[in-house]
Amino acid sequence: MDSAVMSLLGAFLLSIIGLFVFIWSMRKGLLMENPRAASVIFAKGEIGKVDDPALQPGERAELQAAAAEKGDAAIHLPDELELDQRLDADRSSAFPVFMFIAFACMWLVLGSVAGLTASLKLHMPDWLVSEAWMTFGRIRTVHLTAVLYGWITNASLGVIIWLLPRLLRTPLMGAMWVMLGGALINVAIASGIGAIGAGWTDGMEYLEMPWQIGLFIVAGMVCIIGPVLYTLVNRKVESLYVTVWYHVAALLWITLLFLVAKLPGVHYGVQQATMNWWYGHNVLGLWFTPVSVGAIYYFLPKIIARPVRSYNLSILGFWTLAFFYAQVGGHHLVGGPVPGWLVTLSIVQSMMMIIPVAAFSINMAGTMWGRTHLARYSPTLRFMMFGGLMYMLSSVQGSFEALRSINQVAHFTHFTVAHAHLGAYGFVTMVLFGAIYFMMPRVLHWEWPYPRLITLQFWLAAVGILIYFVGLSYGGWLQGQYMLDATRPFMDSVNVTLPWLKSRSVGGALMVASQIIFVGHFLAMVLRFGPERTGAALFSLRRAQKLELDHGE
Ligand code: HEM
Ligand code: HEM
Repeated sequence: MDSAVMSLLGAFLLSIIGLFVFIWSMRKGLLMENPRAASVIFAKGEIGKVDDPALQPGERAELQAAAAEKGDAAIHLPDELELDQRLDADRSSAFPVFMFIAFACMWLVLGSVAGLTASLKLHMPDWLVSEAWMTFGRIRTVHLTAVLYGWITNASLGVIIWLLPRLLRTPLMGAMWVMLGGALINVAIASGIGAIGAGWTDGMEYLEMPWQIGLFIVAGMVCIIGPVLYTLVNRKVESLYVTVWYHVAALLWITLLFLVAKLPGVHYGVQQATMNWWYGHNVLGLWFTPVSVGAIYYFLPKIIARPVRSYNLSILGFWTLAFFYAQVGGHHLVGGPVPGWLVTLSIVQSMMMIIPVAAFSINMAGTMWGRTHLARYSPTLRFMMFGGLMYMLSSVQGSFEALRSINQVAHFTHFTVAHAHLGAYGFVTMVLFGAIYFMMPRVLHWEWPYPRLITLQFWLAAVGILIYFVGLSYGGWLQGQYMLDATRPFMDSVNVTLPWLKSRSVGGALMVASQIIFVGHFLAMVLRFGPERTGAALFSLRRAQKLELDHGE
């Protein structure tokens, strides 16, 4: 048995032991429901007071009226001291957060245009073929690196760095290190994309950038983790909100995963493929997913001004995600030359993933019960609810896609690509959009200049991804069935996908349009377009005045 197999088996046993310890501690009452922990995102007296900085004052009043519930009469004015603490926390993180989001926007546009180009090329194969860097293989990989590392990773770091000081009620310590980390990561992404365009890659999916460049990402992450841990140790709150668990764990996980996967001269042959997919699924499950789930756990209750339904369920979701996700990577190698039991193990773990997904979904359904109409008033909430729903759908779909009977049809087809976008776009990207809409007015002290663009962007993105997903899933499934049918020539399986590849380009074009609107709106905000309205973006008028005084505005 080689070291990769040993470590996977060890991780599996550890996860089972961990699960039993968790169940035991629940039975012993060690994890009693803790309403204080669930309310830590609110200042004293703030529950019942809606919060969506992306809204204009009139719209906010409508949201507040719609969100009113029995018993709210006793609501006091929020505690000024706690609001001041939050303002200090926001101020301490503002510059690094702005830097991450600005980089994220840049990569989003580049990555999406590359994605649309790759999509068009699949049904217009003679288009843009004169230069090697324009060919499908390179453009596709540029798309992947730009959206996964450039967009999602930068935006995730922005969300983490903004939320942690708020949740810990402590100003960010070592912001300069965080910025240095961000600079290193973005230099690596730019060089990685250049290298891929020039044809220099490590040749493993999601790990394409050469390891010499990848090491800068690890160095950058280390520069960010240091200040995060230092701020955590010096925090002013007692209860750690579940978002802190998700985000701090995710930072540690991705750094370790990337380092192990990128170490040169260690992984060879089949073992390298196992390691590639151990990383490949963990980058989704232990980086993108915890960041986005953690963000929903903060923003959704915050907007509707009600604590999450069950704090314990959120912790159950965290631990089961940590126990089960790490071993699901083998389901990418169903039918491959790896030990059968290793793949079976990953399929079992993929099914077990239903537990954290159910824990999250039940909790969110409970929190939103009787309150879904609020989405009409708050576009930010709409992004969060859409993202949460897509998390559930993509994960349940993924669990079944891992079964051998389904995987043998879906593998090597566009069906997988449709699932990939349901998760990476429908879930992760939509949550990140919502989070940025909430954060930026507080980071830049300026409101979104044209709020209607937020609604327009939501519908373009939502309709775009639905067209992308439905068409490509159907076309991909037909492709799989045709490939398995020995009586049909291979070209039939190619031709049958053509209408669906075209429909993906239509859906993808809507998504790209939504992204351009998003980034254009962000630029307009940075350049201070629109009427000067800073009051509603802050917590109260008094605070707005204080901030303006501090800034000498
Ligand atoms: C319980 C949760 C999930 C399970 C069990 C699961 C399972 C799967 C399976 C079986 C495949 C196809 C592998 C193949 O045939 O090659 C796959 C592909 C993929 N999934 Fe998921 N999935 C889950 C959730 C997610 C989420 C939340 C995301 C996005 C954040 C995501 C993103 C992807 C991507 C990007 C691929 C394509 C990988 C490639 O490049 O081939 N999945 N998933
Ligand atoms: C920020 C948004 C996006 C994210 C996070 C994202 C993510 C991904 C991922 C993870 C893959 C690998 C899938 C796999 O191999 O199974 C992929 C491939 C791809 N994406 Fe995207 N994507 C985004 C936007 C788009 C857009 C707007 C389009 C436009 C049509 C697009 C078109 C493609 C194409 C054509 C591929 C290659 C599929 C193949 O190899 O057959 N993506 N993307």
